[in-house]
Amino acid sequence: MALIAPSMLSANFLHLEKDIDMINNSEADWFHLDVMDGRFVPNISFGIPVIQAMKRATKKVCDVHLMIEQPENYVEAFHKAGADVLSVHIEASLHLHRTLQHIKSLGMKAGVAVNPHTAINQLEAIVQDVDVFCLMSVNPGFGGQKFIPQTIDKIKALKQLILQSGSSALIEIDGGVTLDNAASIIAAGADVLVAGNTVFSAADPKAAIAALKQL
Ligand code: DX5
Ligand code: ZN
Repeated sequence: MALIAPSMLSANFLHLEKDIDMINNSEADWFHLDVMDGRFVPNISFGIPVIQAMKRATKKVCDVHLMIEQPENYVEAFHKAGADVLSVHIEASLHLHRTLQHIKSLGMKAGVAVNPHTAINQLEAIVQDVDVFCLMSVNPGFGGQKFIPQTIDKIKALKQLILQSGSSALIEIDGGVTLDNAASIIAAGADVLVAGNTVFSAADPKAAIAALKQL
């Protein structure tokens, strides 16, 4: 059984509180909050003030995924806004080790997000310092994309690396998770499933969350 993290990127932005309450009352475990800067990824989503407002209504872990350049400059701001898990991209971080220590020193869980083109062996030197690996199974920037099948082998390799190193890092899979592929993603070693389109385009979003949770 995996943890389920609905992505608010696919929520109705005109009625955020309604969608937040739906998740509060569902079997979901985390809120996945996608921050985009139009530079690291070719899209702009929402940022600090919106997360600060959402935090007042959320009753579950707030998992903030920063798809921004120089994420180290915003660690404190996202902590104040209410992040419980804060993920920065390895591809956007010149001093990743320092940034992870900074995130943890503020009491947050430290996440490292990993693009589809980044090899798992590049994670060896930091595996001990990471609480959550957010492994991208699409190229970041947009919801509703198709799952990249090579991700399955990356999940297996990352699971092996985590087990060998004695790390307790979780593997979170982000992008293109559906009711059809979720079981094979969990079987490969995933601990957390992000789901945007699968939850919010369902006729019954709570039932979609429950169905993912049952796998
Ligand atoms: C993509 C984001 C994802 C996205 C997932 O850049 O990081 O979290 O919202 O959406 P789906 O589940 O629709 O692929
Ligand atoms: Zn994300």
